Amino acid sequence: MLKSNRFKKILAVSAITLTSAALYTASAQDAPPPTPEQIAASSTATRQAVFKLLAFNMAPINGMARNTVEFDAVLAQRNALRVAALAPMIPEVFATNDTRAFGVTTEALPIIWDNMEDFRAKAAALEEAANTFAAVAAGGDRAATIGAIRAFGSTCGNCHREYRVD
Ligand code: HEC
Repeated sequence: MLKSNRFKKILAVSAITLTSAALYTASAQDAPPPTPEQIAASSTATRQAVFKLLAFNMAPINGMARNTVEFDAVLAQRNALRVAALAPMIPEVFATNDTRAFGVTTEALPIIWDNMEDFRAKAAALEEAANTFAAVAAGGDRAATIGAIRAFGSTCGNCHREYRVD
């Protein structure tokens, strides 16, 4: 009898513990969903992060062109392939969230969302130029690689000219 009472007590305590754990989980899941403003701000931060990574990977390549960074064909190829991988994310993140209606801090011009086709083409041009440059760098020839940087880098400016605040 004593034993079974004790057992019941243990069961009761366990049940309370389980219930409060379940309630805790439920309250975490019931957190309010992000507002459209928060989604727009987050999406803007994501696309700006893509551009920061592009610039991070382009910097040593541009440095090689200016002779401020020692020529390194392996690094040039590696970074160009990274740029090629990042490029398709540009139109993807813009298409996922049209932030025009929100007061986000951005240099992106609103016409991007009216010209998605062309915006996509400019990102595709960057991807193609990055792959072309990577193939040249893979050859390891300094003059050829340095000579190919301008054509590669100009695809960044081609998009900024039309779609980014001056
Ligand atoms: C398809 C168009 C497009 C291409 C291609 C492109 N950019 Fe941009 N870039 C933009 C737009 C639009 C913005 C403004 C984003 C914003 O503020 O929301 C931007 C912003 C930036 C920024 C500022 C990011 C920040 O907020 O800190 C940098 C740096 C940048 N780009 C570098 C590059 C580099 C380097 C390349 C080429 C490797 C490149 N971009 C290619 C459209 C492009």
